[in-house]
Amino acid sequence: MKLSKRISRISVSQTMAVGEAAGKLREQGVDVVDFGPGEPDFTTPANIRQAGIDAINAGFTKYTPAGGIRELKKAIVEKHARDFGSKFDVSECLVNIGGKHAIFNIFEVIIEEGDDVIIPTPYWVSFADIARFVGGNPIFLHTREDEGFRLTAKMLEQAITPRTRLIVANSPNNPSGAIIDDAEFVKIARLCKERDIYLLDDECYAYFVYDNRKPFSIGAHPEFKSHVIVAGSLSKTYAMTGWRIGYVLAMPQIIQSVMKLQSHSTSNPVSIAQKAALEALTGPQDSVAAMLAEYSKRRKYVLERLRAIPGVRCAEPGGAFYAYPNISAAFKQGIKDTMDFSVKLLERKHVAVVPGEAFGTNEHVRISYATSMEQLDKGLTRLHEFMTTFEQRA
Ligand SMILES: Cc1ncc(COP(=O)(O)O)c(C=O)c1O
Repeated sequence: MKLSKRISRISVSQTMAVGEAAGKLREQGVDVVDFGPGEPDFTTPANIRQAGIDAINAGFTKYTPAGGIRELKKAIVEKHARDFGSKFDVSECLVNIGGKHAIFNIFEVIIEEGDDVIIPTPYWVSFADIARFVGGNPIFLHTREDEGFRLTAKMLEQAITPRTRLIVANSPNNPSGAIIDDAEFVKIARLCKERDIYLLDDECYAYFVYDNRKPFSIGAHPEFKSHVIVAGSLSKTYAMTGWRIGYVLAMPQIIQSVMKLQSHSTSNPVSIAQKAALEALTGPQDSVAAMLAEYSKRRKYVLERLRAIPGVRCAEPGGAFYAYPNISAAFKQGIKDTMDFSVKLLERKHVAVVPGEAFGTNEHVRISYATSMEQLDKGLTRLHEFMTTFEQRA
């Protein structure tokens, strides 16, 4: 069969492979602890769900403008201004079908065939495949575990070439939880402006910061506006993964280009979900605070438990809801790589994790703590036992 070259450049997300195997075991009645999912275990807050129901009952079920309703764009820029200190106009905002759609469309409108896209590792799987799909070359820049996987301007400076068109910044990071220091982020944006390179600021986890740290957006620095593109999402913050609402904040020319693309591809994000998103952004925020408090508790617990396992190291995740432990001690005992580790952990101890290979590193696995304390306790106990078998053999 003849398919396009574009589609053969990408593959199905590796994060799914272990998840599927875990699903099969569960169907057979096995008690699997799943540390795989990159989505909140909370239900969408009641006021947001109700806004969706109200939208249906009011008949708000028709096409809307391709870039979203004005009320929602206004709510997005106002919330961003309140929380991060930015000053975007409504004309600098557009609503998408989730953050992934926002990122995909941004790549589509700025990447030319042969452009380099710098993607720091570990990275969220889709960045690399989206770059490939649109004809760009993903250039992986390795951040160091012993530096907490933090990205710096100096590292980027060494990686930039005349073909670099875009740098991807994802802070807090999926999968490591690493946060780019605020002052460093400013240096990165300055570098991008000087070299005329776009900086994509993926703020999907922007609110998931701990230890009294304040959420940060480089979008709040107007001096870099010509080169910064913010991709946001309501998926994680409001436990709204299934509603599919994301947004772009950028210069009007970029917004209009994305709008043009949306007008011929997806058209508008679901009308009902837009009304629910409006409630999420303008309604009470106490459920967000409650969810964050719970994640914060779990993060501390997971880190303590992981660090108590012989042979496991874990850099402190400053944000998001993932831990990214180094499990390479198991490689001395017949485990080949992180995929082999994940498969055997699932087979022998019925714990699902995502192998680091999927994120561009080869000594780690990702553990999502978007699951209950009870599941965390059970799964970490099993992981401890699994690692201890290697220690005993050593
Ligand atoms: C780093 C990162 N960016 C963006 C997204 C997109 O999320 P959504 O499309 O649900 O808004 C995700 C989802 O997992 C993510 O991990």
